[in-house]
Amino acid sequence: MLKIISVVGARPNFMKIAPIVAVMDRYPMAIDHLLVHTGQHYDEKMSRAFFHALRLPKPDIDLGVGSGSHAEQTGRIMIEFEKVCLRERPDLVLVVGDVNSTMACAITAKKLGIKVAHVEAGLRSRDMAMPEEINRLCTDVLCDFLFTTDRFANENLQNEGVPADKIFFVGNVMIDTLLRHKEAAKKLSLRRELGLKPKQYATLTLHRPSNVDDKQTLEGILQALTAIAKELPIVFPMHPRTKSRVEGFGLGGYLNFGQEVRGIWCTEPLGYLELLHLNMEARMVLTDSGGLQEEATVLGVPCITLRHNTERPITCTEGTNRIVGNAPQSIVSAARAVAVQPPRKARIPEKWDGRAAERIVRILLDRLGKASSSSCA
Ligand code: UD1
Repeated sequence: MLKIISVVGARPNFMKIAPIVAVMDRYPMAIDHLLVHTGQHYDEKMSRAFFHALRLPKPDIDLGVGSGSHAEQTGRIMIEFEKVCLRERPDLVLVVGDVNSTMACAITAKKLGIKVAHVEAGLRSRDMAMPEEINRLCTDVLCDFLFTTDRFANENLQNEGVPADKIFFVGNVMIDTLLRHKEAAKKLSLRRELGLKPKQYATLTLHRPSNVDDKQTLEGILQALTAIAKELPIVFPMHPRTKSRVEGFGLGGYLNFGQEVRGIWCTEPLGYLELLHLNMEARMVLTDSGGLQEEATVLGVPCITLRHNTERPITCTEGTNRIVGNAPQSIVSAARAVAVQPPRKARIPEKWDGRAAERIVRILLDRLGKASSSSCA
């Protein structure tokens, strides 16, 4: 049996691990799998709701580390995860994405001599002010299996000197999940309940420290949103970090939770299916998230990214994404331009076909499998 521990910690990890767990479950004679949740995200709406919607099994082990500074959170995860690795002695630790849990568990496992696989390797924003960029670099340099989503990621890893036999271009597990749940999301009624018509509203997500941790920047963005919302209503499910900053900076006058104010519907964080449902029929998606840039590309919905860079350039070269920064005037101009233009035709990037998880598990079984790996599904 090949013993694998896979790790999740924060919201975007859940969509990435779900299809991999589903495929691993087809090989009960070959893979002994444990799912570890670090507890980086813990609110019902940031964590458990996603397990339910994505049909993920309850984590086998919950480290319960919670929030803290980067060092506190990373350190607590490492201390707790080391105990798990020493007790369980896995053959492989599999981490996804670029959150603190990803890096903390990769370092811990590697120092114990355990092989590590990174799903979504090789993405680079070249912006060292992003904690995720540090997490990506530290994780990739350690890993034995680097599973990539596109050719830019392969090039980044090759340029950093990663041996070619460690890099596996498998596609995008986030898109596996999207394709699996698209039909169910389409059937929801939330858009109608909010009184919104197809293609006549925008969705917004905002949580990057570079956008929300500085009062002036955040207020500028809220002013831009207020201007856009005069012409196009915006649904804004608010991340807890953003909520605490809006309240702390005294900017609550721009928004009202659970109600529409001047064209902006501000809600609690939405579930996976609910946000997918709204994004599918939106006129545009405004975001600073990484995953949403990819999802919008596959949905063919224009995406305006409120950042100065992206680690996912394929969403611009082949997809629907535009990088506009966070200056209020740039955001408003980009939204106005997108609102009057016919949507740009997007190409679905290579291997974003719903089968990335299958490729990952197949590669792991081929390279590390100890017993019969024939599917028992
Ligand atoms: C983290 C990831 C980021 C990812 C994002 C997705 C890192 C460095 N950042 O950012 O890459 O895009 O998750 O959501 O790993 N909080 C709650 N409830 C929760 C979780 C967090 O209230 O369930 C609040 C706490 O006040 C916490 C703050 O949000 O301090 C930030 O949480 P944290 O996990 O540190 O970073 P995120 O901003 O969520």
